[in-house]
Amino acid sequence: MIDKTEIERIKQVIVEKLSSIHTLKCVQKINQLVDEIAGQEERETESLSSSSEEQVVTPWVVSGKIDHDKVIEKFGCKRIDESLIDRVERLTSRRAHVFLRRGFFYAHRDLDKILDCYESGKKFYLYTGRGPSSESLHLGHLIPFLFTKYLQEAFKVPLVIQITDDEKKIWKKLEKEETKRLGRENVKDIIACGFDASNTFIFSSYATVGGKFYENVVEIADCITVNKANSTFGFTGEASTAKMIFPSVQAAPSFSSSFPHKLFPDEKKNIPCLIPCAIDQDPYFRLTRDVAPRLDFIKPALIESKFFPALRASGNNGKMSASDANSAIYINDSAADIKKKEDIPFQYLSFFLEDDAELEHIKKEYGEGRMTTGDVKKRLVQVVTEIVERHRMARAAVTDEMVDAFMTPRPLFE
Ligand code: TYM
Repeated sequence: MIDKTEIERIKQVIVEKLSSIHTLKCVQKINQLVDEIAGQEERETESLSSSSEEQVVTPWVVSGKIDHDKVIEKFGCKRIDESLIDRVERLTSRRAHVFLRRGFFYAHRDLDKILDCYESGKKFYLYTGRGPSSESLHLGHLIPFLFTKYLQEAFKVPLVIQITDDEKKIWKKLEKEETKRLGRENVKDIIACGFDASNTFIFSSYATVGGKFYENVVEIADCITVNKANSTFGFTGEASTAKMIFPSVQAAPSFSSSFPHKLFPDEKKNIPCLIPCAIDQDPYFRLTRDVAPRLDFIKPALIESKFFPALRASGNNGKMSASDANSAIYINDSAADIKKKEDIPFQYLSFFLEDDAELEHIKKEYGEGRMTTGDVKKRLVQVVTEIVERHRMARAAVTDEMVDAFMTPRPLFE
């Protein structure tokens, strides 16, 4: 069998040779064919055509030129407007998180209903998750967790966090035990974000799917036809049946009755749920929301962020990748495309620099040419290094006992 690096190299050569004419489907097909020729299992098509105009946003692939406005239009979610942000600020009596007030969390489904519920004194809970495919989280992954921490603090609500070790076994073809190990490592990163230990339950799919949770998985799966799964996720005939069942595993925590361990007291079986995540996870929850009324469950609400642009280091440890739209400037890029890519350091800064006045100042200086992209990058390095350092220290303080405590099922509502 040809080794993996060789396979990737062959694909790269074919893709590059065809770059002027290929369409997204063509590249997908090439990847699939080469995998088949090499005798490999169907694999995640992580990186698709970069020079293609076509945008792809699925839980496994985010590529092409992403127009976030078009994504919400296509998915059918709503934009978060100023009045909704004002309402969040009023109800929580605090300034909205920078990710919210600067439009990074930009789309929602039924957020207004969650606010109605909160305003009338009823509880809701938060649900988010992570698919453990690497030793630690990257900055993009950290975003929903930092934001979830703000939501938990602001609304003082319970939070469940799913670690989908099963998902990464199915899609990434990682060994089962390895996904469990990575899951536990990722939990340390998540705990380091500072979640309230008394009100947060972190659980792995492998350890939790059973009992009432599994009953709900089956109920949900029974409402989803193969055609529906295929059209929502782009599965083809070669997809394993594990892929068919997994969306129901990710859907189940949206319904409070899935938690068998008195996490939520009995009388609160149907507690509304709010899911913070990036827009790539929307297909899972679109399906979940379709199914909910048929099972007499409340549709989960969503608050969704844009996808963080790739920022690749140039030089020694990073190379321009033909398969990553944002990592290189292409000869067929328009002036607007190039400007956008040059602007990525500023975009990063606008997500992470909390000081509004300084950001405004940099925006002006940069816009009028008194600051270069290099200057912006320098400030960005300082800001991000500070965040990463802070996180590293917090993570070093997370013990195995703390991981066990967060992962022990226990009542969350006091
Ligand atoms: P995963 O591990 O791919 O990603 C974890 C969370 O990070 C978000 N995310 C990003 N956000 C902004 N910019 C990026 N570049 C970026 N990359 C990833 C994802 O949207 C996600 O919120 N299937 C899920 C795990 C999961 C989950 C959930 C996520 C299970 N239940 C409920 C959200 C809500 C996954 O593999 O996420």
